[in-house]
Amino acid sequence: MKTINGKLIATKLNSNLKSKVSYLKKKHKIQPKLVVILVGKNPASEVYVRNKSIKAAEVGIKSVIKRLDAKITEEEILKLISIYNQDNEIDGILVQLPIPMHIRSEKVIDSISFEKDVDGFNSKNIGLLALGRPHVIPCTPLGCLKLLQEELNLSGKDVIIIGRSNIVGKPLSLLLTSENATVTLAHSKTKNLKNLCRNKDVIIAATGIPKMVKKDWVNNKSIIIDVGINQILDNNKNKILVGDVDFASVFSKVKAITPVPGGVGPMTIHCLLQNTFDLALKRRNIKEV
Ligand code: GUN
Repeated sequence: MKTINGKLIATKLNSNLKSKVSYLKKKHKIQPKLVVILVGKNPASEVYVRNKSIKAAEVGIKSVIKRLDAKITEEEILKLISIYNQDNEIDGILVQLPIPMHIRSEKVIDSISFEKDVDGFNSKNIGLLALGRPHVIPCTPLGCLKLLQEELNLSGKDVIIIGRSNIVGKPLSLLLTSENATVTLAHSKTKNLKNLCRNKDVIIAATGIPKMVKKDWVNNKSIIIDVGINQILDNNKNKILVGDVDFASVFSKVKAITPVPGGVGPMTIHCLLQNTFDLALKRRNIKEV
């Protein structure tokens, strides 16, 4: 039993990235730039976006938060993205999800040029990932992969991912398949979920259901990646953050587990910054820094 310290791993990776950003600036006079579009006032999104821009500044990546009113039309957002697509200063464009229901998120995501789609969510980038020749890998899946690679060689391992979202579960299943893992992608209609989990080498929980994975779902060789970030009230009615795994009961039984917070979250942000950097190089055909 051990915790996988995502925060520490992300700090090391960010420090390495910071040196590369600095070198890029010196040698090529380029500072990568990220634009984050935030529509409306979702408190969780506000926190995520603020954390992204703080970390971007720490590694030397420029970031701009473009705040839009919740009543903005789809047409107006598409127009804005078209301007950003053509702006040669901008390397990465991210639309923080969720966005209001009257705007079709798939339309918005697909309007981002695939070369600036720093989340890797648009259909071209997901298609390239499925074909095993990715251009941009979605940040949370990539963060999970990097954490797993610290713990084991994925080739031939049995992995279950619980949750089939377009942001995490689906792209992560493609990514881990490329790493030669045998992947089960489970979801709300999956039968015998507990039994499916029990014999796996790796369990990845990405459901948004607090403490869903219990002690009798895991074994003593399990490595657990908890993607969930859920706010709940504790016994004293204080707000606390918990994952999709019942950490307190599972920890003593498994081989390794990510905590919440301090596990996957910091890795997602690192991967966003790394993707911004990589896109800045690719767009200019710079091979190595
Ligand atoms: N909302 C929750 N996670 C994410 C993410 O990784 N990217 C974006 N754009 N929105 C999110």
